[in-house]
Amino acid sequence: MMKLLHELDAMMDSIYGYMVLKSYVFLLRFNGNYANRDYAERWKKYGERFDKSVLSKACEALKNCRDGKILDLVDAMDRSSYYALIHPEHPNITLGFIKDADLWNLWLESGIYRYVRRAIAEILEIGSGDKIVDFGCGSASPKFYSSLIGSSGLYVGIDYSKPLLNIAEKKCRNEKLIDRVRLIHSKAESRIHFNKNYDVAIISAVAEYSSISGILRNALEALGYEGSIAIFSELFVDLQPERVELFNLYYSLIPGFRSFPSLREIEEFFEKIGLDYSLKPYGNHLLVVQL
Ligand SMILES: C[S@@+](CC[C@H](N)C(=O)[O-])C[C@H]1O[C@@H](n2cnc3c(N)ncnc32)[C@H](O)[C@@H]1O
Repeated sequence: MMKLLHELDAMMDSIYGYMVLKSYVFLLRFNGNYANRDYAERWKKYGERFDKSVLSKACEALKNCRDGKILDLVDAMDRSSYYALIHPEHPNITLGFIKDADLWNLWLESGIYRYVRRAIAEILEIGSGDKIVDFGCGSASPKFYSSLIGSSGLYVGIDYSKPLLNIAEKKCRNEKLIDRVRLIHSKAESRIHFNKNYDVAIISAVAEYSSISGILRNALEALGYEGSIAIFSELFVDLQPERVELFNLYYSLIPGFRSFPSLREIEEFFEKIGLDYSLKPYGNHLLVVQL
């Protein structure tokens, strides 16, 4: 298991390293005079502080990358960033969960999310009969988790992108898994009523588009205040503060992006509720809360 987690951190390091290299080339072309002044101003500020000594570290991190597919999303973000200088909603910005669901489906199937799913399943020992609720499930997770829980299990996936849910449903039908799958079209932070108690809640790569406390409130309700919550984020801002500016520059191109979560705010959420809980970080990107 340690190997898997070490690999997850190393892959996120490669992704960040690639972002740094892409941003450097972007800055080489940047002349500061663009129609989308807000976005250009943010790049200008980033460029003023850019320290070239990070380039060798970025190359080092990329040398360890054994799966180039995890970098595809960065390519799309890099390409989109040029169009964003023209207009914040330029049609060639192809990062929308609704508008570009077919592209997201590819990234969710073969990007970093694939490895995250494996890590979560292994750490939480997901298996036969488990009842799972997955906030911001996307198009690939429903098939993955529902194939692990058998016909006595239950998987509920919640997502605000109807096109991604439609793709997910088709895959589950094709694999004859639909009997144990429910897909709910809703925002993850809206109050949701659950009429069963689940064992596991998954919050993977969605907190930055939502409200982590809103999702956690729903997760507690779904678990009946007992069970496990796995939280993956590409970035926890207090664990890797040096990454925040560049991550925000690229991720702000994704419609619905708000801000990356912090470990502290998650701890504060549970402290405020006054629940008995334990929170265990697995590397820099995955947390497991036990209730
Ligand atoms: C990066 S994808 C991660 C998908 C999935 N959790 C995985 O790891 O494969 C983020 C997902 O969150 C969904 N999403 C974004 N904002 C949301 C919100 N406020 N409520 C529910 N889903 C949301 C998107 O439609 C997308 O499917």
